[in-house]
Amino acid sequence: MTRKNNLCDFILFGGHGDLAFRKLMPALFHLCKDGYLEEDSRVITISRREMSNEEHIELVKEKLIQFLPEDSFTEEDFKRFAKKLLLVTVDFSTNEGYAKLQEVLNEFEDRDRINYLSTAPDFFGGICQALSENKLITENTRVVLEKPLGRDLKSSQEINKKVLEYFQENQIYRIDHYLGKDTVQNIMALRFSNRLFVHLWSSNHIDHVQITVAENVGAEGRWGYYNDYGAMRDMIQNHLLQLLCLIAMEPPCSLDANDIRDEKVKVLKTLRPLTSADVANKTVRAQYTAGSSIGESVPGYLDGDTKESDTETFAAMRIDIDNWRWNGVPFYIRSGKRMQRRNSEIVIQFKTMPHSIFANKGSSIEDNKLVITLQPEESIELKLMNKIPGLSENMKLQEVDLQLNAPHTLKRKSDAYERLILDVIRANPTLFMRLDEVEAAWRWADKILDGWADHVVPMKKYTAGTDGPTAAVQLIAQDGRSWHDE
Ligand code: BG6
Repeated sequence: MTRKNNLCDFILFGGHGDLAFRKLMPALFHLCKDGYLEEDSRVITISRREMSNEEHIELVKEKLIQFLPEDSFTEEDFKRFAKKLLLVTVDFSTNEGYAKLQEVLNEFEDRDRINYLSTAPDFFGGICQALSENKLITENTRVVLEKPLGRDLKSSQEINKKVLEYFQENQIYRIDHYLGKDTVQNIMALRFSNRLFVHLWSSNHIDHVQITVAENVGAEGRWGYYNDYGAMRDMIQNHLLQLLCLIAMEPPCSLDANDIRDEKVKVLKTLRPLTSADVANKTVRAQYTAGSSIGESVPGYLDGDTKESDTETFAAMRIDIDNWRWNGVPFYIRSGKRMQRRNSEIVIQFKTMPHSIFANKGSSIEDNKLVITLQPEESIELKLMNKIPGLSENMKLQEVDLQLNAPHTLKRKSDAYERLILDVIRANPTLFMRLDEVEAAWRWADKILDGWADHVVPMKKYTAGTDGPTAAVQLIAQDGRSWHDE
């Protein structure tokens, strides 16, 4: 692939699905509005549903109004966007409809083709095969694979193997939308452009790291999907491990995609594999029971139509990294649905001061912390000790927050999917996962999933709207530490 052409046909498989309406169409709409989509580019929805193009355009409009922030939608912008919209009915379980797609795509052969597969992963191989058999894969064709890429290493390898029969690795864009979040990208800027952190960023000065991705939403509405995956496969194997990689990786030799991915893979390969005893002592899994969320009563995960399930809606664990930089520095990670509040943050906790000269003046020294918050608001805070101003005889100290946020110069914060879709259009794979990354992540995660399948850890319960099970508090407390928000 030599050309970087923004002129493209963006072909959205699963284009009438939840993700497409909630995230992908709004992202494409914004890209169009902000002038990132070439005038003649097309957004071709592939769906099983039979309807006219006019009806499809009306449906997209209705969904955009539903999912876009109120001030983002205007009729005028939509008119421009609507010109790009096309529906092609394809049933990818029977392969009916590809001839029509071929006809549509062959109208313009000189443009890039981006096939975005927002479908269940079971269809990935079949769709790629059908694209190939219908001669729809050109040199400038890319394929975007939505997560989850399998349920374990084996199934992930099967999916990737099949896709690789038809596409080269450099044409495959495996998406993890967390990498498209601005604050996540800022982790690299923070680490690798500030001398301040160069020497502090290791086991010499860091005591431990915490990564939390808590959501207040439950699994309702997506129960069927979610129940096949659970917190470990849905969030930890991908989003949280990617965050961990960015915190733990060595400086890449350049910002080139492969240089960055090389460093991330090294981290994944040095995650200490968990033995069955480790799974018992260092991991927690739990399901939420009925409770209240943002002032409203909500059902438990298993409530409703006689549901039975061994799927976790919360997972927490201690991870050790076996390399020189992180020797002896645990990473505690946790993620759950129906938690008290939506909150995603990374806390780097520095070691305790070797000696305090303030102790006999009645002031204790809190350990310094760097807190990187991704959600609900993005922020970076460095927690430092400071003298309480005044004439008191004793030197009293307090913890203060140094805000490291960049001043907001942008009119609107773009969504992670906008960044990632634009990167695919520009053929820049930096923020996408390479095959070896995905496999290394599964290889590590499988040990935990196997232990859970063998019931070496009981399934705990937590009330919806709380901070998760007490076992997660004990997990970190057994090492003499506590979660940042406790
Ligand atoms: C998705 C998961 O990948 O990420 C969802 O499948 C989860 O279960 C979502 O809700 C969270 O994304 P964000 O950007 O809202 O934190």
